[in-house]
Amino acid sequence: MDLGLKGKKAIVTGATKGICRALVEILAQEGCDIAFCARSQDDVDATAEALKGYGTRIVGGTANVKDVEGYQKWLTEAAEELGGCDIFVPGVSAGGGMEGEKSWYRAFEIDLMGVVRGFDALFPFLKASGNASVVFISTTAAVETFIAPMPYNAIKASLITYAKQLSQAHAKRGIRLNVVSPGPILIEGGSWDQIRQNDEAFFNSILAQQPDGRMGEADEVARTIAFLASDAASWVTGTNLIVDGGFTKRVQF
Ligand SMILES: NC(=O)c1ccc[n+]([C@@H]2O[C@H](COP(=O)([O-])OP(=O)(O)OC[C@H]3O[C@@H](n4cnc5c(N)ncnc54)[C@H](OP(=O)(O)O)[C@@H]3O)[C@@H](O)[C@H]2O)c1
Repeated sequence: MDLGLKGKKAIVTGATKGICRALVEILAQEGCDIAFCARSQDDVDATAEALKGYGTRIVGGTANVKDVEGYQKWLTEAAEELGGCDIFVPGVSAGGGMEGEKSWYRAFEIDLMGVVRGFDALFPFLKASGNASVVFISTTAAVETFIAPMPYNAIKASLITYAKQLSQAHAKRGIRLNVVSPGPILIEGGSWDQIRQNDEAFFNSILAQQPDGRMGEADEVARTIAFLASDAASWVTGTNLIVDGGFTKRVQF
């Protein structure tokens, strides 16, 4: 199946590690021009160097989603440098945390407003594309009770509703919007790797809930995002695709 990604212009935030690092690798392999950001210059340089091997246009930049002006400026400049934007995946998260209001504000600012502001900044380019695809990243912790009441789970849930609303509003402009909700993904140096090292009993209790006895890999989520971003998913919009190897137990109608 041809995904039809060749020549598309993609912007991905938080793409030097984890799921979005795997995503930009796939998109570059498939022939996309890519702009991506993260905070660490060294990691941006290393990622850009690796992606340039695929022969497409690669624009790596440092931007902090928390810095509203700098973030939106980077997005606009990235789209201008690519000559447009057909695909947008805002991947940055503040992660979990149960430090009261501090965690609420962090999740609101990064996980929600980082996505909202990103979409707003790129909207003129997505509209101009006429055939654009946006994929938000939520989590299975948004759709089933997970660990404890916490801002991350609730704020990530709001992305699912917002994506649906945007998908209805912008279908006539040729913009599709979908959400991918991963279950626990084991990434070297990532949050589950840290939990494995610091709280093995808890890690194993989560592992025991996976029907096939393993956590997911970044690449397994990235491939799903690439599909939704591609023309192969041309009739898919407003959906929330769970990628969790059966971790969630509800029946999804
Ligand atoms: N891993 C999982 O199990 C899992 C499960 C469900 C959902 N998700 C979601 O999937 C997405 C990716 O998570 P991940 O675990 O694969 O990756 P991750 O380890 O959270 O990677 C974070 C990436 O974002 C960058 N970043 C972090 N804070 C930033 C900021 N304020 N501004 C700009 N860049 C920033 C990091 O680089 P710098 O540090 O250099 O900035 C890095 O490139 C997130 O939205 C997460 O909520 C993950």
